Amino acid sequence: MRRPIRVLTAFALIAGAVTAAAVAQTPAEALANGLALTPPMGFNDWNAVGCGTSEAFIKQTADFFHTHKLSDGSTLQQHGYQYVNIDDCWALPSRDAHGNLVPDPKKFPDGISGTAAYVHSLGLKLGLYNDSGLKTCSSHGFPGSFRHEAQDALQFAKWGVDYLKDDNCNQASGQDTRAATIQRYTAMRDGLAAARKQTGQAIVFSICQKGDNGINTEDWSPEVGNLWRTTSDVHTNWTRLDSIIDKNIPLAQYAGPGAWNDPDMLEVGNAGLTATEQRTQFGMWAEMAAPLLIGTKLASATTQTLDILGNAEVIAVDQDSLGRQGVQVSDNGGLRVLAKKLANGDVAVAFFNETGATASISTTASAVGVGGAASYALRDLWAHKTTNTTSPSWTESVPSHGTVLLRIHPTAAK
Ligand code: GLA
Repeated sequence: MRRPIRVLTAFALIAGAVTAAAVAQTPAEALANGLALTPPMGFNDWNAVGCGTSEAFIKQTADFFHTHKLSDGSTLQQHGYQYVNIDDCWALPSRDAHGNLVPDPKKFPDGISGTAAYVHSLGLKLGLYNDSGLKTCSSHGFPGSFRHEAQDALQFAKWGVDYLKDDNCNQASGQDTRAATIQRYTAMRDGLAAARKQTGQAIVFSICQKGDNGINTEDWSPEVGNLWRTTSDVHTNWTRLDSIIDKNIPLAQYAGPGAWNDPDMLEVGNAGLTATEQRTQFGMWAEMAAPLLIGTKLASATTQTLDILGNAEVIAVDQDSLGRQGVQVSDNGGLRVLAKKLANGDVAVAFFNETGATASISTTASAVGVGGAASYALRDLWAHKTTNTTSPSWTESVPSHGTVLLRIHPTAAK
């Protein structure tokens, strides 16, 4: 249910805390840490460089967010991109004598704390990756946080980490049951809360359990993390992207401020998807209130890529303060319509064509929840054009794998 999420969050912010018992009884209520009230926006290096993370690359990306002017004259930072996230392969293969994780000094000469300090100096935030098992997902075998949750959480907080992506590979024997999975992630949630108390450092908690071992994430994660993966990894091919969209659409009820379905990171800018498909990823991620984590090398990004990532009108749909994930209102053989209610009473409607040919997709004002107005302003968020109409039914021609995204404003009551 959506309403309890918001009520609980507001209450918890005032009260300062929610008891574990209260949280346990209400599985769909959001983790009340006051963070990620809109879907996180930023960058993660995995889709761009895989295991090739480095301080230099993270700093370069932060610089790009901060200084590079897009064609509209503003920066990605000004558009709301905030987190610069280090993925797997940042650590040495062994903990130190005190059991602490150690950043690889060749890759991170200033450590995670030095990197965080630099990123913070630009007004941005730093994210880090870990794993809830014995080792991270990389075949290189970096240490996981299993049974080190509190220690690692405190370390991350002391380093100045603002966002933690907690993966689910390489579990100890017996640790991949549903109960054990929830317990492992709850241990890190509690570790982060304790570290925050001690250091003041607030850390967004991103659960990277991808439905592994047949265990759904969405029914327990809202009270444990701020976002949770809902699918296996995104790839730069349409079949995978489409299957991810398919899986994420029915989960709308679980999303709300502080608690987001995570259909994985953006592939916008990476070879393998057409420009139309890249716009579909970005537009559907916004429609589904998904995190917008860029995953391409920004230094060599084309104007086309930056225009997609910097589309302020699409970003506004993603970041809308009401925090609704768009719900599907029709699916006519892969011609799908989703509607996302927005805070000012507008609705963002996605006309998504999954099929292999251009097609017309239709819907009505009442189907998308704004029936009964005398007229409508239809703003096309990719074409940046507004059409005014008194008609309460609309048809869009949508290319194969494309998405037309309209922001619909009911202009007057009948
Ligand atoms: C898993 C995650 C990816 C990435 C890699 C790193 O596959 O789902 O997003 O973090 O691990 O090894």
